Amino acid sequence: MSVKLAPSILTADLTRLGEQVQEALEAGADAIHLDVMDGRFVPNLTFGPLIAAALKPLTRAANVPLEAHLMVEKPENLIPAFVEAGADLLTVHMETCLHLDRTIQQIKDLGAKAGVTLNPATPLVTLEEILPAVDLVLIMSVNPGFGGQSYIPGSTQKISRLRGLLDARRLVHVELEVDGGISPANAADVAAAGASILVVGSSVFNSSTSVAANIASLKRALARV
Ligand code: DX5
Ligand code: ZN
Repeated sequence: MSVKLAPSILTADLTRLGEQVQEALEAGADAIHLDVMDGRFVPNLTFGPLIAAALKPLTRAANVPLEAHLMVEKPENLIPAFVEAGADLLTVHMETCLHLDRTIQQIKDLGAKAGVTLNPATPLVTLEEILPAVDLVLIMSVNPGFGGQSYIPGSTQKISRLRGLLDARRLVHVELEVDGGISPANAADVAAAGASILVVGSSVFNSSTSVAANIASLKRALARV
């Protein structure tokens, strides 16, 4: 099964966001990843459901899911608006959910797919009970808040341990997504460790090379897996 790419718009040229997203879709992006930040859970403030609604026509036309990565306190308050705006998958941080099972159920009851995200220091054991209820686990390979950070090397063995857990429990439908510091230099290793979706921000949206060229580089790197 080929590993999917989910470009994050966090480092896109926001003066021409639609064009950048369209270029990523035409280059073969498998999802579009929205990094939603509230300036409280993480020290950065980005955007809300309006951006999801603005980009939805593009992702719908390409038949590509729109992912909302909610790096916010009390995500349950924002979930309805993001589903309404067109988010197909919403992932909440383990660290922000006092009642995670209820929040995952809230997302699914609204008709979207549900993911849970772990920060680098949050152990896999916290997933024990919720794993069968989610559609996706997102492993942060950087500390959340900013694009362009370096991949935390220890993430790779965490990814392979999670892959082992999912396989042992035959949770084949659960996607294993990795977010942060992914580039052509490490994409193959992260995929080989068991990731099924890679979030790619600054390695896709940057001022040195085109979106299409960057996605092609990542796909070439993944072809080696
Ligand atoms: C961090 C964000 C970033 C982003 C990817 O909170 O979640 O990880 O999506 O950015 P890069 O690929 O530049 O690390
Ligand atoms: Zn993200």
